[in-house]
Amino acid sequence: METRIRKAVFPVAGLGTRFLPATKTVPKEMLPIIDRPLIQYAVDEAIEAGCDTLVFITNRYKHAVADYFDKAYELEHKLERSGKTEQLELIRNVLPEGVRAVFVTQAEALGLGHAVLCAKEVIGNEPFAVLLPDDVIWNRGPGALKQMADAAQSSGASVIAVQDVPREQTASYGIVATDAFQARQGRIRAIVEKPEPDVAPSTLAVVGRYVLNPGIFELLETTTPGAGGEIQLTDAIATLLERETVNAYRFQGTRFDCGTHLGLIEATIRYALDHEKLSDSARQLMQNALNELGVEDLE
Ligand code: UTP
Repeated sequence: METRIRKAVFPVAGLGTRFLPATKTVPKEMLPIIDRPLIQYAVDEAIEAGCDTLVFITNRYKHAVADYFDKAYELEHKLERSGKTEQLELIRNVLPEGVRAVFVTQAEALGLGHAVLCAKEVIGNEPFAVLLPDDVIWNRGPGALKQMADAAQSSGASVIAVQDVPREQTASYGIVATDAFQARQGRIRAIVEKPEPDVAPSTLAVVGRYVLNPGIFELLETTTPGAGGEIQLTDAIATLLERETVNAYRFQGTRFDCGTHLGLIEATIRYALDHEKLSDSARQLMQNALNELGVEDLE
């Protein structure tokens, strides 16, 4: 079986209710951190990891995502004519040469597991990546998916990104129980979707990066709706790990949950403070805001 990870799936057919009213017309994945939409951060991470086929699972309201990855002839022509080469490069690099985008419609939002299953025909019989674009992972070294793809390629096992969370937050995540970790990896023995803190098997939470063997599709086909009435990817993974090794991977990097207000704010602050042109001004205006609000607080 081909072990290089060439294909990446981006499930973007969710409703994004936590960002209403903005998401009434703008898909959550198109919300920006500075000047790039969330989806671009995930796409860049997948390309860096070696993927050349990007599979977007969308719905009929998400034209903006497909439009974004389409070639903008008129705009390119205008930028070219006015000599704006830097901006031209930026929009051309949205999807670099040699990388193709495939769009698959998920007719009904039946859950993340169902969204991944929609990619079955495009993926075929090879390991593939899944990236949830609302999890943005900042790292100065190799991206989280690159780290995981390297690990998956050398072991041949499926690999799932995890991070420690405070126990009171377990009900917001898939939670895993693992064998002892060797370096960054530990074999998963159990996985449960959104357990309450008192029954959670650990505080190791699944975050939105997966490298999965194609055997997952057969399991997704027979997975019945679980937590929240949705077809859960976690439930299919729970069966997969009875059949083959599935490893948890503690990636290097900081993850921001940009599906929440605070996560998006935090990510914006981080990228602004780390930005080669904006960093100093961003620091100054944050300081100003804190000072001004501090004065108001004392009044
Ligand atoms: P979320 O749980 O974040 O749901 O989905 P959501 O609809 O995007 O956002 P909220 O909770 O209403 O604010 C996790 C990921 O799975 C995708 C979403 O697009 C998101 O990337 N998803 C979820 C689908 O593609 N299809 C589904 O049926 C459900």
